[in-house]
Amino acid sequence: MATKVYIDGRVYPPEEATVSVFDRGFLYGDSVYEVTRTVRGRPLELGAHLARLERSAEAIALVLPPRAEIVRAIDETLAAAANAESYLRIMVTRGAGPINLDPAAADRPRLIVLVKAMELPPTKAYSDGVAVCIVGVQRNLRRAVDPRVKSGNYLNNLLALAEAKQSGAYEALMCDFQGRLAEGSTSNYFFVRDGAVLTPPLDVGILEGITRHRIMDLAHKAGLPVHEMELWPRDVKSFSEAFLTSSVRGIVPVVTIDATPVGAGVPGPVTTRVMAAYAAFLEAS
Ligand code: PDD
Repeated sequence: MATKVYIDGRVYPPEEATVSVFDRGFLYGDSVYEVTRTVRGRPLELGAHLARLERSAEAIALVLPPRAEIVRAIDETLAAAANAESYLRIMVTRGAGPINLDPAAADRPRLIVLVKAMELPPTKAYSDGVAVCIVGVQRNLRRAVDPRVKSGNYLNNLLALAEAKQSGAYEALMCDFQGRLAEGSTSNYFFVRDGAVLTPPLDVGILEGITRHRIMDLAHKAGLPVHEMELWPRDVKSFSEAFLTSSVRGIVPVVTIDATPVGAGVPGPVTTRVMAAYAAFLEAS
């Protein structure tokens, strides 16, 4: 089990993996990134993650290295780490330069690929579900840094998670400026009502999760009604089930929201069905 980091053409052990303090990723969070995991050694949904990286970069006018170079760096780093399964983080910063907000002050983009051994949440999280809470920290406005952009500036999400942890919750559930349910600090949310699978729409201002997209497709193929719809904290009492999703966690059942049980307060039949469909998808990947 090893951690390896690719920086600018070379793979380093973690203790030698350093970037300049003048790097704009460090100074301003001026970077974009992706996170996925491997399945049987291959990065899960790599094409979709790289496409999102490209969309994020385009949105902040950051020019990425060519996709082939990124793929080569991923392959090299995974090979050097030689883990059974890996967590994979692909980052591109705008580069280093003088202290100056102007993006034109950056020298050139830096590609960093971090690989470490894959660690799933504890089995209990999947079998018993987790507690989440609706936090006061709002999801960013789409006219600020659009939540669709997976940028290196995660301070908002970090504060949301810290608030959730203070209440003993596993993950935050953020709302947008209007109070509509949005997403977690590093996850998307799904709810079940009257047998239908509901999830906040993208225009609320959330990250377009790769797992979210996959789950919507799998649930639809399993014959479940799936709806993207505006949801509010007052809707929570009408939900019989809830779950959250992300590439490195898959699906985690949510059994309480703000310390109130969701439905029966245990992972429900729809969640279990979607989890089985996702497990089969991973098996076939
Ligand atoms: N984050 N929403 C936010 C704000 C996220 O940061 C993430 C993922 C997701 C889920 O997206 P996906 O299904 O594509 O992983 C939703 C990763 C895991 C992270 O930053 O660690």
